[in-house]
Amino acid sequence: MGAFGPGPPHCMDRESESTSSPAGGDPPFPGPLPAPSGGRPEGEGQKPTSPPPKGSVTDVFDQILKRSSTLYRGNPDVLREAYVPPRLPHREEQIRRVAEVIAPALKGDTPSNLLIYGKIGTGKTAVVTQVRQDIARRANLPKKIRFLAVNCATVDTHYALLQTLGNSLVDREEDRIPTGWSLDRVYSVFCAHCDRQGGTILLVLDEIDKLVKNSGNEVLYSLSQINTELKEARVGIIGISNDLKFTDNLDARVRSRLNEEKILFPPYDALQLRDILEDRAREVFAPNALEPGVLERCAAYAAQENGDARRALALLRVASQIAERSGVSQIRDEHVVQAKSSLERDIITECVRTLAPHYKLLLWAIVVTCERRRGSLPTGEVYENYTGVCHRLSVPPLHQRSISNHLADLEELGLIRAKVISKGRGGRTRQIDIAVPASETLNALEEDELLKGLSRRRGAGQTNLFRFETGTAGSPPS
Ligand SMILES: Nc1ncnc2c1ncn2[C@@H]1O[C@H](COP(=O)(O)OP(=O)(O)OP(=O)(O)O)[C@@H](O)[C@H]1O
Ligand SMILES: [Mg+2]
Repeated sequence: MGAFGPGPPHCMDRESESTSSPAGGDPPFPGPLPAPSGGRPEGEGQKPTSPPPKGSVTDVFDQILKRSSTLYRGNPDVLREAYVPPRLPHREEQIRRVAEVIAPALKGDTPSNLLIYGKIGTGKTAVVTQVRQDIARRANLPKKIRFLAVNCATVDTHYALLQTLGNSLVDREEDRIPTGWSLDRVYSVFCAHCDRQGGTILLVLDEIDKLVKNSGNEVLYSLSQINTELKEARVGIIGISNDLKFTDNLDARVRSRLNEEKILFPPYDALQLRDILEDRAREVFAPNALEPGVLERCAAYAAQENGDARRALALLRVASQIAERSGVSQIRDEHVVQAKSSLERDIITECVRTLAPHYKLLLWAIVVTCERRRGSLPTGEVYENYTGVCHRLSVPPLHQRSISNHLADLEELGLIRAKVISKGRGGRTRQIDIAVPASETLNALEEDELLKGLSRRRGAGQTNLFRFETGTAGSPPS
């Protein structure tokens, strides 16, 4: 799976942040001076002041405040990820199947464990959240059902998972599981909390693949056989994953226990995404705020990228923000095109920022060389250039074999492209090229303390002057 997968939610907040006032160290405020303290209240008997200089902070804020957007009639947050809509078009079948798997719990029987698979943005979390909310709303269920939902991308160790689950079953501070106990003790206290709760407890382990990746099988092994230890409660597990192969890494016993029921969420096609967008658009936008074809354009882009509903919604939201900022009364096709490139830039930057140090050094070496050559470079040279950068920074380089794996990972993340070039007489070489905009990638890389020294060497507009062989900057062309 590429890192361009789950769009990090913060990347969509860029627009709202970009209007904030500049950080300290600015020149003196150029707008009209504030009224002296003790003077008349603002606006009372004051002479009209001259308008603030165009482009000043005051002018920008004045323009924003004057603009009353005609685009929205509802809360634009409806387009954000956190909003769970009342209806999930094109997921009726999956909702029905999840409800059927859970149904035995309504009568006090133990439900089967369930694994939900599907690519990013296919509505897995939204469907399970909606089912949970529906059950929580029913006050008079014949048997007690309690959902405990955890995102294993953040709670990804054996201890932390049992601790988090256990602590969500207690109200009193003194009953909470602290850090520093043995795993056995945490497990038995968790079991005791479950028994005290009684009824059916459904554990929703969202992004369960991350847990397995970070902590292996063990915690799932304990949880999947917990019913043999419980006296008053029954536990069912609902695992959610966008890695279709994660069970390959599970112990056979754990795999068969978790896999009692499986539901696959297929990607949405463009028509389905359009329906999803239309529902939200009806809630948020004023009549005529959308030029015909805008929803189709957002849906088509998102359908090309894995059929991801999150991406379709982000495109519509960012397009509406761009239109709002330009002060126009309609969201147009061009705003969606701009939204697409803005989101792509943010995703690349975020992906690059979160790379481990040697990936950054390797990527930096590749980007700078490709820039210098205005083209690709053979894999053999990549290692040479990477070691040149490491020497420059006095960082011990990794072994060549390890760097080959790093290259494969960067390719999988979509940051570089590798092509095999035939050289005649059966000879072939692999050429590496960058798959992302060079300057944004370098800027993101050079935010890292480790690479800051390289950025100084590169200097403004001198990307092409770094000589790997010597690790020194060349002189500017005359
Ligand atoms: N059928 C649908 N109708 C309305 N909104 C939807 C639908 N499917 C997904 N969404 C919305 O798209 C966004 C992404 O959905 P969700 O978080 O459920 O995806 P996911 O499959 O869990 O993705 P990931 O694997 O990345 O966690 C959410 O804002 C969700 O509300
Ligand atoms: Mg999810």
